[in-house]
Amino acid sequence: MKRVITYGTFDLFHKGHYNIIKRAKALGDYLIVGVTSESFDIERGKLNVRDSLIKRIENVRRTGLADEIIIEEYQGQKVNDIIKYDIDVLVVGSDWRGKFDYLKNYCDVVYLERTKNISSTKLRSEGVIFNMGIVTDDIRDNDFVEESKYVSGVHVERVFSEDHETAQRFCDKYELGSCWNSYDEFLADVDIVYIKTSLNRRAEYIERALKKGKYVISDSPMTLSSEKLRYLFQVARENNVVLIERTTLVYLRAFNQLVWLVHSNLVGDLVSVKCAISQDDFEGGRTFNETVCTAICAVLKLLGKKCQDINTNAVRNQEGRFVYDMISMKYAGALATIEIGTTVDIENELVIIGSNGRVTIPNDWWNTGYFEANISGKEFLKRYSFNFEGNGFRYLLQELMIMIRDKRTECTRLFYDESVRIIEILETINRKDNS
Ligand code: CTP
Repeated sequence: MKRVITYGTFDLFHKGHYNIIKRAKALGDYLIVGVTSESFDIERGKLNVRDSLIKRIENVRRTGLADEIIIEEYQGQKVNDIIKYDIDVLVVGSDWRGKFDYLKNYCDVVYLERTKNISSTKLRSEGVIFNMGIVTDDIRDNDFVEESKYVSGVHVERVFSEDHETAQRFCDKYELGSCWNSYDEFLADVDIVYIKTSLNRRAEYIERALKKGKYVISDSPMTLSSEKLRYLFQVARENNVVLIERTTLVYLRAFNQLVWLVHSNLVGDLVSVKCAISQDDFEGGRTFNETVCTAICAVLKLLGKKCQDINTNAVRNQEGRFVYDMISMKYAGALATIEIGTTVDIENELVIIGSNGRVTIPNDWWNTGYFEANISGKEFLKRYSFNFEGNGFRYLLQELMIMIRDKRTECTRLFYDESVRIIEILETINRKDNS
């Protein structure tokens, strides 16, 4: 009996999928179809898949052509499958020509011509597209335009800047559709706004966009006042839209997995969280307030909102400018310390110490796909590694698209009351640093 296998995502099942499955079946007596799992697709950077795994499997099953359906869950699985299922022929579309030749040692590899003029990508682009606009006061986009290309259903069209020349130069640089220096006119034709102006103008732009019913992403912090932030979230709720801050950390698989494992007792009871950032290294160089927010967010996610006491120890130069700051946050049974290097270079690192071991995210921990655990009594480090693409913004955009689709009015990765708590802590830090 000749055994054939073929693989695919099979999103928005179409004629091309049917054809390849049919032709694969004709090459043997028994056909196995591998359907990619959601986590495998995310791992390999394919963020735009619409149908659930169950639905995609069901569509393959309904062809009546597959004798067996399996799930493709990791890179390198094909070799194992070929051996395990005693495969004679691997079939893939011509878009993969040459890519699987290394499997010829194990079975025949057949590349079949793709069906013309149809693909999941094409079908996805025919759905509803949300127009995004960017509000800026310089011509840097923080890779927003590039990152948005990896998420289906969104398209960056417009740029607003109070300074017409900046808007024009931004528009030319990123090849956008139009530039504006009237905010109301800019808002008229966008669904989602990304606000990346300097901090003193953010709250005003956010409020005006929310009141026009636009979804808003803003650089973090959105404001330095917790009262104002509560008000902005209230406006978002009243207008049935989501307001999210650009804190990439909470959208990363590695960080979410770390939080989950730590809360499931990976290293026992938490005793200490230490995070250190050099301002110069944080997203191409940021202000103290912008930098420290991400660190507070990490602490909050790990130790919770119930911080009992906050202290700061700032080092300043002769002109009174910040050089370095060490912030401590006291919790019942645990202590968090945040080190910020303003003009000095410090080792970026996040270390979590528990009664039974230690978890470390080395280097740029706010932008990571990797962490390691050192468990007491175990000789070897346990390493956790996840794919991480670009600067992480795409994961936030992807989540926003899901929120829009599900008509959600709050982000579950960073709840509104968590955002407010971060700003309350920041208010205390700023008060103590300036007293
Ligand atoms: N395929 C095909 N003809 C098409 C589209 C896909 O023969 N017009 C084949 C692919 O070559 C692959 C299998 O169907 O072997 C599953 O492809 P998949 O990546 O799921 O579909 P695409 O439509 O190519 O998806 P996307 O646009 O997301 O890449």
